[in-house]
Amino acid sequence: MRTLKEIQMNDLRGQYLRLQPEIDRAMQEVLTSTAFIRGPQVKAFADELSHYLSIPYVIPCGNGTDALQMALTGLGLQPGDEVIVPAFTYAAAVEVVALSGMVPVIVDVDPQTYNIDPELIEAAVSPRTKAIIAVHLFGQCCDMETISAMASRHRLYVIEDNAQSVGATCSFSDGTVRHGGTIGHVGATSFFPSKPLACYGDGGAMMTSDPELAELLQKIANHGQKQKYHHEVIGCNSRLDTLQAAILRVKLKYMDAFTLARRQAAHYYNERLNDHPFIQAPCKAPYSTHVYHQYTIRVRDGKRDGLQCFLRERGIPSMIYYPLPMQEQEAFRPLCRVPFPATVAADLCREVLSLPMHTEMTAEEQGYIMDTIWSYE
Ligand SMILES: Cc1ncc(COP(=O)(O)O)c(C=O)c1O
Repeated sequence: MRTLKEIQMNDLRGQYLRLQPEIDRAMQEVLTSTAFIRGPQVKAFADELSHYLSIPYVIPCGNGTDALQMALTGLGLQPGDEVIVPAFTYAAAVEVVALSGMVPVIVDVDPQTYNIDPELIEAAVSPRTKAIIAVHLFGQCCDMETISAMASRHRLYVIEDNAQSVGATCSFSDGTVRHGGTIGHVGATSFFPSKPLACYGDGGAMMTSDPELAELLQKIANHGQKQKYHHEVIGCNSRLDTLQAAILRVKLKYMDAFTLARRQAAHYYNERLNDHPFIQAPCKAPYSTHVYHQYTIRVRDGKRDGLQCFLRERGIPSMIYYPLPMQEQEAFRPLCRVPFPATVAADLCREVLSLPMHTEMTAEEQGYIMDTIWSYE
């Protein structure tokens, strides 16, 4: 009989209990000050994240979806413009394009990294294409060198969706190394509680090196105003709460330690799955580090759903990120342009399974998960 504590996909409680004295103190300070909106912690957090990512401007906002949408607005994209997005992704990138009256152009992903296949982007470009949203999925960066070069050839904007990969870096052939989210014209990220850098509610940010764009994005996020009650552009209300900023300031200090913990957990899984007959461990791209937001395996031979059931019956949670490619989603299907069949994305949707992965994993839990996987035939 197993005596382990219940296995979690993402052990938010365990992490909180470890940081509790610091988090509680930071929250208490906000409560006592009552500066719930635009308190000093918001600016302090933006400065600290800007330092961590080595990017001049970080503009905190309400959530990652808003960050993507405001990036489109800030770059001046218009209804009818085409935006290239990956077929296999969390839906926010496609959703904001469609919501803004633009056309999502769906491009297939790389079977190894699950990120948008840069070799396919160029052939998808039309005279109406204005931007690419490169989603850094599951913890590693897209091939930003190839994407950036292609984007400048075609004068396209590059927006990076870095919600799942804060902390990952991308290396370039000239030897430079840059954080995901700081390479394109605008980076967008989310601080949703399960993300690598996460608060205890909704939160997000935009990143840019362009001072004018930074000022515009800042305005858009605050009702289009710089000076109170003077609305210069049409904006929205998308602010990071002071309480969330205070929590994020504590979490940011542990970012590297958290990344290391997930990498060590991934290393163990990788070793154990190395010679598995029908499971492929995640592949790390040579140009990116991996922060393992998710540890997503491919289960071949039609065995994915059976394995998920088998694990569930033995107390092991797992998730299917994601069950449907973007072009097959009911909401987006009529609005997308799909230049070529996205067959890799379709295969992934049938085969992927994300295993428990977080900063609090124990050797005992991981051993049990792998022994159970190996006992499934
Ligand atoms: C890749 C990606 N982009 C965008 C988002 C949207 O972020 P939010 O939930 O903060 O709006 C998420 C997260 O949920 C995500 O995983």
